[in-house]
Amino acid sequence: MKKYIIRGGNKLSGEITISGAKNVALKAIVASCLTNEEVILENVPRISDVHYMIEMVRGFGGQVIQDGNTLRITVKSIANYRLPLETAVKMRASSLFFAPFIVRCKKAEIPNPGGDRIGARRIDMHIEGLTKMGVSIVNREDGYFYASANSLKGANYTFHKNTHTGTEQMILAAVLAEGSTVLENCADEPEINELIELLNLMGADVKREENRRILICGVEKLSGARYKIKSDRNEAVTFAIASALTGGNVWLKEVNLEFMGAFVKEFEKAGGKVEKNESGSLRFYIQDKVSPTEIVTKIYPGFMTDWQGPWCVLMTQADGESKIHETIYEDRFQYVHELKKMGAEIELFNPPVDNPEDFYNFNSDDCTKDTRHAIRIKGKTDLNNAVLSMMDLRAGATLVLAALIARGETIIYGVEQIERGYEDFDKRLKKLGADIEYIEE
Ligand code: EPU
Repeated sequence: MKKYIIRGGNKLSGEITISGAKNVALKAIVASCLTNEEVILENVPRISDVHYMIEMVRGFGGQVIQDGNTLRITVKSIANYRLPLETAVKMRASSLFFAPFIVRCKKAEIPNPGGDRIGARRIDMHIEGLTKMGVSIVNREDGYFYASANSLKGANYTFHKNTHTGTEQMILAAVLAEGSTVLENCADEPEINELIELLNLMGADVKREENRRILICGVEKLSGARYKIKSDRNEAVTFAIASALTGGNVWLKEVNLEFMGAFVKEFEKAGGKVEKNESGSLRFYIQDKVSPTEIVTKIYPGFMTDWQGPWCVLMTQADGESKIHETIYEDRFQYVHELKKMGAEIELFNPPVDNPEDFYNFNSDDCTKDTRHAIRIKGKTDLNNAVLSMMDLRAGATLVLAALIARGETIIYGVEQIERGYEDFDKRLKKLGADIEYIEE
C-alpha cells in the first residue's frame, strides 16, 4: 500500500516544468500501432497509465523502447488481437485499440472499460460509430467486445452528445478506412487536435472544419513520424492552484495558456492574477483574498470537469459561498466526503435544471436517487489534518492540495491513483518546498 504523509502550511516556491499531456500520450501510443514503421513520441509523461499502455503494446508483439520521456514504438505486426482484461480495464484509453486490431487482424477483442469512480463511462457511441463503419460488434457476458470486419468503410456519423475519446475512436478508425468519413457534433477538446496532428504527420488526411465537424479521407497506409506532446493542462491547473493556495511563488514552465481560458477567467474572478516572466513561465497567485465563484463544468472551451476538485479546495478559502455544478460525469464528487473530514463545509445538492437530457453530458439512466450533481462550499474554513483515501486521479490531486494547507499531518492512502497521471508528483512538490513523504508499506 502506498501513502503520502503531508505536513501542511509550507508556501511553495520555485520553478516547475509541466509534463506532456497524459490524455494525448495514451492516444498517440494507439496511433503508433496503425503503422509498421517507427513512431517516436517525445515528452511522454512517465506515469503508470503510460506504463500499462506500453505493457499492452509489448504484449501483442510491438516493440517499445522507453528512454526517459521518449518512446520509440515499432509495431511490425500484431500477434494477438485480444487485450488482457486485468490491464485493459484499468483505463478507458485501452478501448481505443479497436482500429489497429481491426485494420491489421480484422478482429478485435477488447474489454468493456466500464464504469469507474467518476461515472458509468459508457462507450455506446464508439460502438455505434464503429458499427456504421462496417464493424460487427458483440458485447458478451465475459465483459469483452468481440469485433470483426474485413475492412473499415468510411461513413457519416453524428455523435448525439460530446465524447472526447469517442471522437478519437472514430478518427483512429477512419484514417485507414476505404473512402471518406464525415463526423458531426465532434468533441472540440484540444487533446484531440494533437492526435490529428500526429496522424497527419503519419500520412493521414484529417481536417477539422467549423461547427464541430471532422472530415477524414481514408489513405492506403500510414508511415512513421516523430511527435512532441504538448503540456498537460490538467497538471498545469493543479500546480497553479497549489501555488495560489499556499500563498506561494511557483513559476510554471511550458504552460499552454491558450487551452486554459476558462480556468484563467474564473481564477481572475476569484481574485487571482497570472503573471508572465521574460522566459514565458507563468505564476498564478491570489492578490488579496479569494472570492467565491459559481462554476458549471462544461465541454471545451468551458471549465473542465477535471479542474473542479482542485477548484473546490481553493473555494474552501473563499470568503462566502461558492457553487460547483458538474455536468460531464454523474458521480465526480466522491472527494467531498474526504474534504469534510478535514473540516470543509460542503453540501451536495441537485440544482433545478430545465432540460437535463440536453444540459448534462452523462446519461440520466446512470444516476441513482442518491446521485448529486452540485456542491455548495462555505468559506473560509481552516482545514485540519485527517486520514484520507484517494478515489480517482483528480480526486487524489484534490486531497493533496487540501493537505498542503491543512494544519498538522495528513495521511493519504491510494497514491496509485495519482501515479496514473502525474509524473513524480511528490518529488516535484517536495522540490517546491512541500513537506511530503512517500511511503510504500
Ligand atoms: N459518454 C457516453 N457514451 C459514450 C461516450 C461518453 O455516455 O459513448 C458519456 C460518459 O459516460 C461521460 C461523458 O459522456 O459521462 C463524457 O465522456 P467523454 O467520452 O467525453 O470523456 P472520456 O473519454 O470519459 C476523457 C478524458 C477524461 C476527461 C474527459 C473530458 C481520456 C482517457 N479521458 O474522458 O480525463 O475528463 O475526456 O475532457 O482522455 C482524467 O484524465 O482524469 C480524465 C478523466
